[in-house]
Amino acid sequence: MAILKIARMGHPVLLHPAEPIADPTAPGVRRLIGDMVETMADADGLGLAAPQVHVPARLVIFQVPPETDEADESGESGESEEVAPLCILINPTVEPLTEETVLGWEGCLSVPGLRGRVPRYTAVRYHATAPDGRALTCECEGMLARVVQHECDHLDGVLYPMRMTDLSELVFESEFKYRTAEAPKADEAPAEPAAAYAD
Ligand code: NI
Repeated sequence: MAILKIARMGHPVLLHPAEPIADPTAPGVRRLIGDMVETMADADGLGLAAPQVHVPARLVIFQVPPETDEADESGESGESEEVAPLCILINPTVEPLTEETVLGWEGCLSVPGLRGRVPRYTAVRYHATAPDGRALTCECEGMLARVVQHECDHLDGVLYPMRMTDLSELVFESEFKYRTAEAPKADEAPAEPAAAYAD
């Protein structure tokens, strides 16, 4: 396995729709998944999409601690002692289960040093293929729904700032702690940096 270089905002690979994976069980896909898992761990992240490692393929991985309402793709959360399940989605499709959206803080390994408050559907259903070829269907809400939307957006060339409706809430991480301390609400991060989802 190998640690891969992470593309940063501005690189074209992050802005183009990724290609479907013809054979999810192919050895090359298995290798890519192994490399992405290692890369995500090395970057202290909770999620990663293939375009973020310069591979324009429809594959995302994420590992969100259970019982953690607000997690962080850049990994600073994790009060939970349970081991987070690793989810690997090939060719995922996502549909909202409600029209309700909620604002929450996010970060992204491809947008280092920043956090933004992003509206996301509160509940979604995804369909995908597992690495062993099985069909996956899952309904999720809360932080997991946020993570799924964030990661799958990467497959369509969308970065979280492009989803924001109020760019005054795009802030540097060093300012983020003051932001959340200012007005913590039930629907957003607790007043600590662990509160955002960031990949
Ligand atoms: Ni991201």
